[in-house]
Amino acid sequence: MPCNCCEITDNAFSEAEARSELKNYRRRGPANQTNLILNAIRSLGLKNADLLDIGGGIGVIHHELLNDVAREATHVDASFAYLKEAEAEAARRGHGERIRFIHADFTDVASELPKADIVTLDRVVCCYPDFRRLLKAAAEHSREALAFTYPRETGYFRIGFKILNLFQLLRKVPFRVFLHPIIEMDLLLQREGFERVVLHRLFVWEMALYKRTV
Ligand SMILES: C[S@@+](CC[C@H](N)C(=O)[O-])C[C@H]1O[C@@H](n2cnc3c(N)ncnc32)[C@H](O)[C@@H]1O
Repeated sequence: MPCNCCEITDNAFSEAEARSELKNYRRRGPANQTNLILNAIRSLGLKNADLLDIGGGIGVIHHELLNDVAREATHVDASFAYLKEAEAEAARRGHGERIRFIHADFTDVASELPKADIVTLDRVVCCYPDFRRLLKAAAEHSREALAFTYPRETGYFRIGFKILNLFQLLRKVPFRVFLHPIIEMDLLLQREGFERVVLHRLFVWEMALYKRTV
């Protein structure tokens, strides 16, 4: 699909936002929806796993999982500002040598990247127009498990997202948010050989953990 998604996303996440998110994480720990992913992954009992975190932002998932579950991680992100903060924080935590940071739209570089045991996408599909392309590439890269969060598909959020996107249009900002159909994301992952083993709902976010069956 022709899309300058990386450029659009890169411009959408500023250095100030990245710094502020890192400050919050240091003060309060992972956000609630991120904790759902972390707990779900930990419930699998994996050790020395390799992790592929797509759109990892300031890197909370690998900062946490490199302490117990993961041996190494790859963090692919369309936002340079987020990647920069993630890399600096990883170095502070002594994890720098165990992480590969890649500034790109994951779908553009997926074919060059190896598979990982665990693939995560925390609040990422809602930033990307073509969920099929993104999730299919993510699923193809997972040997064991894939966990992701996405906004709940309710009438309120449908209206809210339309209003948000209208504001973006009026401000001439090309970045949009997307409420993708959950049933279609689930069917896609089933076709890729996964089954959903954990599902949790918060007010805004839903988290699903999938395990590879074939
Ligand atoms: C809302 S932020 C979430 C960041 C982090 N996962 C979290 O939950 O705090 C969305 C992130 O996904 C990244 N992103 C969106 N689409 C992407 C894609 N196709 N490839 C790589 N990164 C992507 C953005 O650059 C941004 O860092």
